[in-house]
Amino acid sequence: MKQVKIHDKNFQLFIPYEKIRATIEKMAETMNNDLKEKNPLFLCILNGSFMFAAELFKRISLIQTEISFVKLASYRGDKTSGQVKQLIGLNEVIEGRTVVVLEDIVDSGLTIENIQGQLKLLNPREVLVATLLLKPDALIRDVKLDYVGMEIPNDFIVGYGLDYDGLGRNLIDIYSVANE
Ligand code: HPA
Ligand code: MG
Repeated sequence: MKQVKIHDKNFQLFIPYEKIRATIEKMAETMNNDLKEKNPLFLCILNGSFMFAAELFKRISLIQTEISFVKLASYRGDKTSGQVKQLIGLNEVIEGRTVVVLEDIVDSGLTIENIQGQLKLLNPREVLVATLLLKPDALIRDVKLDYVGMEIPNDFIVGYGLDYDGLGRNLIDIYSVANE
């Protein structure tokens, strides 16, 4: 079994790249059908979603479509207070547009709820959410998810853009923390 040690933890292979790619191909196919004529603006939530966004967006076959890259930033000093983080880097006017938020993972739902709330203040036509991964057992918010790649157990994972304290984003496969 493929294993990798990152910081103090051992991880074992959980989702091979081939499965990730096949999942994203299916998502793209559905979105190509759903989003015709909608001129969607995809919003990649950095850092974790960059690989998913690249893999998905090159399979979006619409001509009228754009992508932009945004990030959630804590104000200085707020790090430990769990306060609402501000969405930064959005330069496009989204009023009246279909926005598709691209997330690597939804677990508690707090982050995506925060993003949806901030975007809605800018009067888009609609905010859709596409997440590669969902941990249903970790959800504490009732969030509307439009496209879900895979549901996974509530175990800590790394790879394919997801990090463990900064490391592991470059792994092409997804690894799950080993129970020792
Ligand atoms: N791994 C890395 N980042 C995450 C996870 C995870 O399991 N859940 C939410 N962010
Ligand atoms: Mg992280």
